[in-house]
Amino acid sequence: MARKIAAGNWKMNGTGAALAELDSLTQDPVPDGVDVLICPPAPLISRAAAVAGAVKIGAQDCHAKSSGAHTGDISADMLRDAGASYVILGHSERRSDHAETDAQVCAKTQAAVDAGLIAVVCIGETLDERNAGQTLEIVCGQLAASLPDTATSATCVVAYEPIWAIGTGKVPTLEQISEVHDALRAALVERFGDDGLQFSLLYGGSVKASNAVDIFGVPNVDGALVGGASLKAADFSPIIAALAAA
Ligand code: PGA
Repeated sequence: MARKIAAGNWKMNGTGAALAELDSLTQDPVPDGVDVLICPPAPLISRAAAVAGAVKIGAQDCHAKSSGAHTGDISADMLRDAGASYVILGHSERRSDHAETDAQVCAKTQAAVDAGLIAVVCIGETLDERNAGQTLEIVCGQLAASLPDTATSATCVVAYEPIWAIGTGKVPTLEQISEVHDALRAALVERFGDDGLQFSLLYGGSVKASNAVDIFGVPNVDGALVGGASLKAADFSPIIAALAAA
């Protein structure tokens, strides 16, 4: 069984005051069998890690190199040192804002794993690609090229995030989610053998308390990567509870 993960991606939102939401999240015990993860902006990681308790802290990107002349960038070692245990890589906003390619995501994933972080590798199709019937080809291609051969279920998590569902309130049908997650599972098993069954497969894109129960009922959905609804503990807590009950 893949482990269940409820991951919150705060994106570029929050200063120190936002840590009150993390504090409030830690008031409830983390349910057995679920990893709860919050990925705040990088400047908050060490302060977040200091108050996170059983909640895990992650970053939203890292550089592929461990050090050097890369002004403004942050290495996986630095994130680990600051208290992160996870890092989101290849989010569609990184791919579009910073033109990140699958090859770069793959190199970053290797760097994250080498530093002892768990990589949450994001993939997903545009609406045009979906309408053209290319979804499975696109996401399986991204999966193949973004995960290094050294990936294992202990070091890498895959997040399927249709780009048209991120921050839009639009969510694929349960059948559409199921079709993609089944294809990703098959691709992971084909490449990694039995360990492919253990990779956590997260769905992301407009997950809310009101749709979480249905989404977590889809086979091969092991959790969620949540943006907007992770910013407030009151919105994120019911999503965690839905995952624990799934
Ligand atoms: P959203 O973002 O939940 O606000 O749609 C998801 C994500 O980008 O990870």
